[in-house]
Amino acid sequence: MEFLPEKLEAYVEAHTRDEGQVLKDLDRETYQKVLSPRMLSGHVQGQVLRMLSIMIKPETILEIGTFTGYSAICLAEGLNENGALHTIDINKELQNMTSYYFEKSGLSEKIKYHIGNALEIIPTMDLFFDLVFIDADKENYSNYFDLVINKVRTGGYIIADNVLWSGKVVEANPDEETRSIMAFNDKVQADSRVENVLLPVRDGLMVMRKL
Ligand SMILES: C[S@@+](CC[C@H](N)C(=O)[O-])C[C@H]1O[C@@H](n2cnc3c(N)ncnc32)[C@H](O)[C@@H]1O
Repeated sequence: MEFLPEKLEAYVEAHTRDEGQVLKDLDRETYQKVLSPRMLSGHVQGQVLRMLSIMIKPETILEIGTFTGYSAICLAEGLNENGALHTIDINKELQNMTSYYFEKSGLSEKIKYHIGNALEIIPTMDLFFDLVFIDADKENYSNYFDLVINKVRTGGYIIADNVLWSGKVVEANPDEETRSIMAFNDKVQADSRVENVLLPVRDGLMVMRKL
């Protein structure tokens, strides 16, 4: 699904900060070589994530779902001088390409790349996060929320991607993935530990602030 009409999308792109050559190369190589390249956040959403990260000034970020590293690089650009971004992905086949781009970005010292199942890795992390970005398997969004909520500092943020799921959240007969996203959105909306806004950016970003 196209998220905006083509002309409007081009206008938005043309009036958004340039992503820089490293992210352009990463985007191109992902589309050339990797299955399901549309999973990558891309120019505009990447710059939204970067801007939010700069506004939050996080010391510690957790990203669930690295893929080829596009959003990790964008988020890491907002880290404090001594900050760190932990990013987890279960797919070890992307490790070489992703690590190469972390090096190219100049942020590799701040990026801690974990390969494995986020459901198993997160409980072992003895850390508090100022910002968590949830962008892995949709069936586990509610589980990821439960795993991280007590590891987010008061006043910290959780952002979840794809919460509009190409518009399927408002269609009849939702499939399993759509039902998981809908359950996650309802759970967040009802949870008094967070306040939230669903930003209709690209495929939908649920932005939550821990109270
Ligand atoms: C939508 S992509 C992430 C895109 C990336 N955040 C970006 O914007 O460029 C989702 C990723 O989640 C990973 N993933 C799926 N299930 C996972 C799990 N249980 N633990 C860790 N990673 C998982 C997949 O391998 C995939 O690379």
